[in-house]
Order: sequence, then C-alpha cells, then structure tokens
Amino acid sequence: MYKLERTELLNDAVRISRLAGKLLRDRLLTDFTIDRKGTVDLVTEMDRAAQELIKQEILLKYPGHGILAEENLDIQGSQGFWWIVDPLDGTINYAHRFPIFSVSIAVAYKKEMLCGVVYNPVSEEMFTAIHGEGASLNAIPIRVSETTQLDDSLLGTGFPYNIRETSHNNLDHFREFALRTQGIRRCGSAALDLCFVACGRLDGFWELNLKLWDIAAGALIVREAGGITTNFEGHELGMDGSRVLASNGQIHSRMIQILGGDG
Ligand code: IPD
Ligand code: CA
Ligand code: CA
Repeated sequence: MYKLERTELLNDAVRISRLAGKLLRDRLLTDFTIDRKGTVDLVTEMDRAAQELIKQEILLKYPGHGILAEENLDIQGSQGFWWIVDPLDGTINYAHRFPIFSVSIAVAYKKEMLCGVVYNPVSEEMFTAIHGEGASLNAIPIRVSETTQLDDSLLGTGFPYNIRETSHNNLDHFREFALRTQGIRRCGSAALDLCFVACGRLDGFWELNLKLWDIAAGALIVREAGGITTNFEGHELGMDGSRVLASNGQIHSRMIQILGGDG
C-alpha cells in the first residue's frame, strides 16, 4: 500500500468523522428517539443518522469499498478495502446526555489495518494513526505512559451489555484491579479508552465482549503509540474483541496474570 494512498484514506476518515461528530454534538441536547436492542443495550436515532452520513460520504468517494458498521451495515466491496465504523461509541452516555462519546473509523486492506481515527466531538480531540507511522492527537505525536507498576497505574474498563445474564460480567476482574491500582475509570466509550491508553492518560484497559468496530481504530492507535494489544492470554488481538487487553507494555504481563485469575 502506498504511503500517499494511506494518508489520503486517513484524511478522508478524519474529515468524515468530523462531519459525523458535529452532527452528534449538535443534536446531543435535542429530543432524539431511543430504542432498545436489549435490556441495557440502546440505539438512538443519532446512531443511525451518523452511520448514514458516514456511509454516504465513504461511498461517494470510494464506491468500490466495503463497509462494516455497527447498526446492521455490511457492504461487501470489490477492491479489498473496507471501512470499519462505529458511528457513535458511547450510546448509553449519549442517550443520557453524558458528554463522552466518539466516532470510530478504521480503514483496512484485506486483513491489514491501514489507518484509524477516533474523534471526540465534545472535546474536539482527534486521535489518528497510520500503520507504521505512529499515532497523534490533534496532529501532535502521542506515546503511551511509562508507568511500570500496577500500584501506580490508572486503568480503564467497561462492562458487557449482558452483565445481568452472565457470570462473565467483569465484576471479578474489576474488584481485583480496584484493589491493586490507583483507580479504574469506566468512561463508556471503548474507542476512547483505547486512545487514552495511547496518549498515556490510562496505563491499561481491558474489556470483554467488544466488537471489531469498537476496537479497530483504537487498537491500531495504541500500537502506533508504542503500546501493546492482545487478548487476556497475551496472544495477538487480531479481529477478535471478545477479551481485549491494551496497555503501555510495561504492566501488560501483570495484567495478564490478574486476568488469568493468577493474581
Ligand atoms: C459500547 C461502549 C462501551 C463498552 C461497550 C460497548 P456502543 O459501545 O464502547 O464503553 O463498555 O461494551 O458496546 O454500544 O456505545 O457503541
Ligand atoms: Ca461501540
Ligand atoms: Ca455504537
């Protein structure tokens, strides 16, 4: 893949995420409809509106590209390129007018992630990465933290939507980490959690049952900022979000020990 092509794809992802982010921000305090996908799993009119805007913009410029997006959108492209989109990461926050949410867009060629953006339209923070070229926040390069001890760490996590139905609900891990760190934040947008690891605000993040659109852009941003992304066993993350662990690298093996129940 040529450098120029990846830069152009990133610039388009930045532009499109800004458009969708502005729509979400402008409508945050208005009266949008909210539907339920599950007991605590919501979808708002704005998830769908942001996704439609993103789809139109991608297809206008790249009619042969594929798109995988959260709200039942799976367009098979013809050229090997595909866009992995979470139009609104942080729907529960958004539905409660709690102003922490993001737009997450990654572009892949076959199985290789080329670039990714995560945009927080409230703080106007644009996290970006191009594979092999580092990660940035508002065009300024970012690095993961240098914290070496779990004792000194601030971590992020989230809880699965089926928390009421399963014992694999993260409450056990939450307890273990709460007793061993300086604190845990549950910000409500996994894409932003990953970016917070990338820029050193968090030292690590773990979560169960995430989907590819939650992690595609954010995990690339972590790796390009010098961090590590694996599953709970320390194996390569790939496309599987079911057991996601991201960290600054220094506390990674300690986190694996605790996630493996070997605290
Ligand atoms: C959710 C957020 C949340 C995480 C959930 C995700 P959504 O995505 O990323 O932080 O804890 O597991 O599903 O539904 O708001 O796009
Ligand atoms: Ca999401
Ligand atoms: Ca979403």
